[in-house]
Amino acid sequence: MKNYKIAVLAGDGIGPEIMNQALKVLEVVEKRNDISFELLHGNFGACAYFSDGKAFPEETIAMCDAADTILKGTIGLGHEESKQIPVEERPERGALLPLRKRYNTYANFRPVSLPPELSHFSPLKPQIIGDGIEIMIIRELVGGLYFGEKQKGTDAGGKRWVKETLEYDEEQISKILHVGFQTAMKRQKVLHNVHKSNVLTSSVLWNEILDEIAPEYPEVTVKQVLVDAAATALCLNPGQFDVMVMENMFGDILSDQGGGILGSLGLMPSACLGDSKAYFEPSHGSAPDIVGQNIANPYAMVGSVAMMLDMVMGLEQESKKIWKAMQSVFAEGYSTPDLSNSDSDIKMIGTDAFGDQIVTHLLNS
Ligand code: IPM
Ligand code: MG
Repeated sequence: MKNYKIAVLAGDGIGPEIMNQALKVLEVVEKRNDISFELLHGNFGACAYFSDGKAFPEETIAMCDAADTILKGTIGLGHEESKQIPVEERPERGALLPLRKRYNTYANFRPVSLPPELSHFSPLKPQIIGDGIEIMIIRELVGGLYFGEKQKGTDAGGKRWVKETLEYDEEQISKILHVGFQTAMKRQKVLHNVHKSNVLTSSVLWNEILDEIAPEYPEVTVKQVLVDAAATALCLNPGQFDVMVMENMFGDILSDQGGGILGSLGLMPSACLGDSKAYFEPSHGSAPDIVGQNIANPYAMVGSVAMMLDMVMGLEQESKKIWKAMQSVFAEGYSTPDLSNSDSDIKMIGTDAFGDQIVTHLLNS
């Protein structure tokens, strides 16, 4: 029997509520496969700062080091509340970015998936949605502006200034582009390369490297698109995209737009892969405004579990069944208050009940 140690970092806000649903799903998978999960629960984020004085405490680091993979909930506090924490220990800077850096999880997969069962959530017109949206955004996750050198100062005249640098070396670019090509090979064999080479030198190098790599994937058609044009095209004609690859900051912004065209960031799971460790997290935040109300939809969290089972554990069939189970719950007319209005003909249920519905469908599959 294969045993996997999973570091479970529920985090802040709605993190623990949606993580509970993810763990229910894991239990089903464990029971019916020749596999066992050892869950290591760790403090991470603002809650860890308040309990341990650090957003990514040593104990959690040791736990993540020892784990085969990491399942993360959400982190962060509301704007005002976060002022209680020194800037460097705020969950994004103090926990999330160090997690990404430590395990060099450079390849961030963010599926923007709108099967027919979910199409009513999208703000796009039916003629634009067509048969549905199936995009894989691949975002470089440990380079660029996020991790480049930062400086702050005051000039002789007393004027304050900042300098942030967008840094990449050819190895980083090449690695993420290979991920893009390999993903395209498994799908429609079309790769949209998102860049800003009309302005940024980093994009010029990025595209040079792409031209060097492309001959290794003769079956893949590369389509070039400027990042600003990509933003428009995602709204006007999302069906043209299958795999999109881009640098860190572009990916942060366009993947949120992906959530926008689906109708909610709550429908955006993600996988963050490094060469030796991966972690999985919803793309959305901790939603402090709805914490503790049992109204957050667990789709992105449970979807992240589905990605983990497929990408780390090779349980492709179970992963597919989880996606199907979630879609079936929506297809039966259920939803949660964060996603839907109560005046529609939706059968409104809470986070827990939604998790139970997923489990019921999963058990029947
Ligand atoms: C994301 C988030 C993070 C990011 C924040 C919380 C630092 O927005 O995962 O997209 O900018 O990468
Ligand atoms: Mg983001």
